[in-house]
Amino acid sequence: MTAILVLHGPNLNLLGSREPSIYGSLTLDAINARLMEYAQREGLTLRTFQSNHEGALIDALHDAMHWADGVIFNPGAYTHTSYALRDAIAAIGVPVVEVHLSNVYAREAFRHHSVLAPVCIGQVAGFGWRSYLVALYALQGYLTEHPGSRHLRT
Ligand code: DQA
Repeated sequence: MTAILVLHGPNLNLLGSREPSIYGSLTLDAINARLMEYAQREGLTLRTFQSNHEGALIDALHDAMHWADGVIFNPGAYTHTSYALRDAIAAIGVPVVEVHLSNVYAREAFRHHSVLAPVCIGQVAGFGWRSYLVALYALQGYLTEHPGSRHLRT
């Protein structure tokens, strides 16, 4: 069974109350529940995890090497700054899709650059909570068409 990690970075625990005009009014739990519904319908195994700490996100990516076929990752502001997360994504050899609720390219200049995008298989931004759903759909298709991209479980 295809196994996917949905990883949420800093400040995303505040979704629902955090700048709802930019990020929408759904809580993180509500978004996770919608993704879980899709996963159950499609026969995917999904685990979700949120942390405000760079090191914990790196640990979650390392752990994903042992069980996940792919990762959906909203790195929050670490998108624009974290070489450590970039190195972790490059190291694990598990396909990662970068996700943003907002259209980062229509916002402040510092959000226009992702240091993670070059080591991800793709990016979805601007569709609110549905960015995650689009990413999940796309990753599912990618994994079907690239079975060789799955890591060897250790
Ligand atoms: C975000 C965009 C980032 O620039 C910002 O720092 C976030 C959320 C998004 O989902 O739109 O925390 O990743």
